[in-house]
Amino acid sequence: MLAIIGGSGLSKLSSLAVERREVVRTPFGEPSGALLFGHVCDQPTVFLARHGYGHTVPPHKVNYRANIWALREAGAKSVLSVASVGGIRADLVPGSLVVPHQIIDYTWDRQNSFFDGGDTPVVHVDFTEPYDADLRQRILRAGAQAGEALFDGSIYAATQGPRLETAAEINRYERDGADIVGMTGMPEAVLARELELPYAALAMVVNFAAGRGESRNGVHLQNMTQTAQGIIARVHNVLQHMCLDC
Ligand code: HPA
Repeated sequence: MLAIIGGSGLSKLSSLAVERREVVRTPFGEPSGALLFGHVCDQPTVFLARHGYGHTVPPHKVNYRANIWALREAGAKSVLSVASVGGIRADLVPGSLVVPHQIIDYTWDRQNSFFDGGDTPVVHVDFTEPYDADLRQRILRAGAQAGEALFDGSIYAATQGPRLETAAEINRYERDGADIVGMTGMPEAVLARELELPYAALAMVVNFAAGRGESRNGVHLQNMTQTAQGIIARVHNVLQHMCLDC
C-alpha cells in the first residue's frame, strides 16, 4: 500500500476515493489526523494530512514520529510526501513541480529518531541517499505519463519555520547548494528510513524564496496560496498515474 502525506494545499486528496477512515494512536502520540484509506489509480492507498485536516498543526509541531509510525502500522510499504516549497534556484519558479534527490537539514529541536535512548541499543541508519531511488523514478514516470513536466533532482533545504527565511539565510542555503526550501522534509524522511519505508517527495514550488524574484522585497503569502491552488490539479494528475504497473 502506498502512503501519501499531503502538505499545505493538499489536506484533501480528490484522487482518493475514501472507503474508510481510521483514528489511530501510536507509542509516540497522535498523528496529525485520521488515516484515510482508499484507492488511487487502482492501488490501495492511505492518505494523511500532515498539518491536520483543518491545517492547524504548524511544521515545527507536526508529530512526525507518530505520522510515520501510524502509516507503517497501517500497512504502508512506501511513503510519498507532497510538500510546498520556495524556489531558490532561478529556474525553479512558482508553479514548478520538483522531485528532489538530496536534503540539507537546518531544523532543530524536533524529535528526529525512533531510537532515542532508553533500553534500545543505539542505531545509526545510512542516509547518504535520503530519497528512495525506485520511488523517485515511479513519480517521474507518473509525471511523464500524466504529461506534467517534473524537475528531476534538486537539493531540499529543510528549515525550522514557521516563519519564512531572511534573504541572507536564502543566500546561505544557496551557497550550501540548496535549490528549494521547505519546512517539513525533515525529520520525516529520516524517520521513514529508520522504519525502512521507501520515501520520496513531490515538491510544489509556490513562491520565489525570500529575496529572490517577485519575493525580492518580501514573500507575498496570498500569492503562495493562489499558486498552490493552481498547481494542485497537476499534482492530482501525477498521483493518478502512480499505478503499480506504470
Ligand atoms: N520557505 C520555507 N518553506 C516554504 C516556502 C519558503 O519560501 N514556501 C513554501 N514552504
